[in-house]
Amino acid sequence: MTFIPGSLLVTGGAGFIGSNFIHSYIANNPTCSIINLDALTYAGNLNNLKGVEKHPGYSFVKGDICDAGLVATLLAEHNIDAVVHFAAESHVDRSITGPEIFVRTNVLGTQTLLEESRKHWQSGAVEDFRFLQISTDEVYGSLGDSGYFTETTPLAANSPYSASKAGADLLVRAYHETYGMPTLNTRCSNNYGPYHFPEKLIPLMIHNIINCRPLPVYGDGRNVRDWLHVRDHAAAVEVVLKKAASGSVYNIGGNNEWHNIDIVNLVCDLLDVRLGRKPGENRELITFVKDRPGHDRRYAIDATRLKNELDWEPARTFETGIQETIDWYLANQDWVAEVTSGAYREYYTTQYGDKA
Ligand code: NAD
Ligand code: TYD
Repeated sequence: MTFIPGSLLVTGGAGFIGSNFIHSYIANNPTCSIINLDALTYAGNLNNLKGVEKHPGYSFVKGDICDAGLVATLLAEHNIDAVVHFAAESHVDRSITGPEIFVRTNVLGTQTLLEESRKHWQSGAVEDFRFLQISTDEVYGSLGDSGYFTETTPLAANSPYSASKAGADLLVRAYHETYGMPTLNTRCSNNYGPYHFPEKLIPLMIHNIINCRPLPVYGDGRNVRDWLHVRDHAAAVEVVLKKAASGSVYNIGGNNEWHNIDIVNLVCDLLDVRLGRKPGENRELITFVKDRPGHDRRYAIDATRLKNELDWEPARTFETGIQETIDWYLANQDWVAEVTSGAYREYYTTQYGDKA
């Protein structure tokens, strides 16, 4: 049976994936009602929401998911029947230098949302209810050269980031098992696309190439990630929200594995053409740097369950998606300049030292 939410509470909707989800959801559901609760950390930016902010069903609330009183008020006042929970600290490198905020936001924040959602759901204020936890394939740990993560792969997180996401996923499971709360949990591979903060691999490389700066590749560059366009992720989240059975977990992936160095080379070559540089010129910027501690070797998602049960598959090829993404960054240099000012510069200097 299809569940059509009347009023959504989206957390972290000013971030990369949350904002893309809001754009996509409003386009597909023009009469929807969405409350976007976001603390506007360094990763949250209201400019990501231009174009949807005037939609009559959309409103923004600046606030913290750890604020139980605020969450309770929003749930009650807006008759929320679906929470789609994107808000998180999301960058592995930052979790290595400062894990505490990851536990606070990702674990405690999720528990606060779950607890207030439980009370709201149990009060009977809404007829039906869903809590959708947005998570990552990183909770499964690292793969060798072969094999895939399925939904039954044991959680074996290796970084403070992925450990905090795994903790949150287990709390979601616990709220379903203990209280019978109607929860859902998606675990997606690496996303790319517009509004991606340039601390992550693909936007960082695009940004540095444009500015002729070194391209820091960790270790031997042979780590493998599976890449999915963020709008395909958004579409998958919508399908799971509307069609999945309570208590279920779905992997979301692009079936699109790349060694990091190959992706960096590809972005270099595409930008050689776009920027009118000599073939191979951008590759000269590649600099192998000290590896990330605990660096997971390979992620690969088996998303068969989502395809077979809910009929979802990515709509974009990587070939088109990466070109569109590069073009988006070239056309939106003002956005990049804004998000890379201030705190970002300090982070970049700390992370990459003289490579900055
Ligand atoms: P992001 O870092 O771009 O955005 C996170 C958003 O959460 C920001 O808008 C930030 O302001 C907000 N936020 C942070 N702390 C908050 C708090 N205490 N209260 C309210 N808002 C807060 O992250 P993203 O890349 O868009 O990731 C979104 C979700 O998807 C995360 O849960 C992440 O774990 C998951 N995920 C990300 C990827 C990826 O490739 N980026 C892949 C799979 C899953
Ligand atoms: P990232 O975008 O941080 O995502 P995640 O660690 O969550 O997968 O990194 C993707 C891959 O790229 C990962 O193997 C680490 C690597 N990487 C670099 O080699 N250099 C960089 O500057 C960054 C940010 C990442």
